[in-house]
Amino acid sequence: MDSSQKQQKLDEIAAKIASCEVCENLCKNCTNPVPGEGNPNALVLFIGEAPGAEEDREGRPFVGSSGKFLTEMIELIGLAREDVFITNIVKYRPPNNRDPFANEIQECLPYLLAQIKIIQPKLIVFLGRHSMNIFLPELTISRDHGKPVKKGGQVYLPLYHPAAALYNNSMRETLINDFKKIPTILKKIK
Ligand code: URA
Repeated sequence: MDSSQKQQKLDEIAAKIASCEVCENLCKNCTNPVPGEGNPNALVLFIGEAPGAEEDREGRPFVGSSGKFLTEMIELIGLAREDVFITNIVKYRPPNNRDPFANEIQECLPYLLAQIKIIQPKLIVFLGRHSMNIFLPELTISRDHGKPVKKGGQVYLPLYHPAAALYNNSMRETLINDFKKIPTILKKIK
């Protein structure tokens, strides 16, 4: 699939997300769906938890304060947001930023899996334990952050969530140091 075919498929998924009404509590209480955005050929795919208020307003992932921090770290390793793909497990903002319910995660998961299948990233980076738990439930974020894991032919990297690290100096430093490992990890993946 070339880049424009991939983009077309990603657009089709975004349209399906926009017309999805399965989780009424989510789609009826939000402003915009947030399907994710970025390069259809991204080598790195970032997966957060769910959109927050700013993301809901703009219909774009990670554009609030934790998003600014994420963008800074992406630039720190010599990439731009346009080079990577950024999305969430859940594509609609949960009311009052509550954690998504298990059924909401399960309903949204096929969209994320379809995005992964199209993009075929070399590396999937989990932003926080929620996305990590879906793919690697055997791991613990406090123990396993910053360590790449290969499972079923896919390489994953669990990281602390930027929102958790934003106002915690030691976690922030750890997250930045873990983030800086991404270029080396990418080089090692065939
Ligand atoms: N936190 C997330 O997990 N995702 C976003 O898009 C923004 C904040």
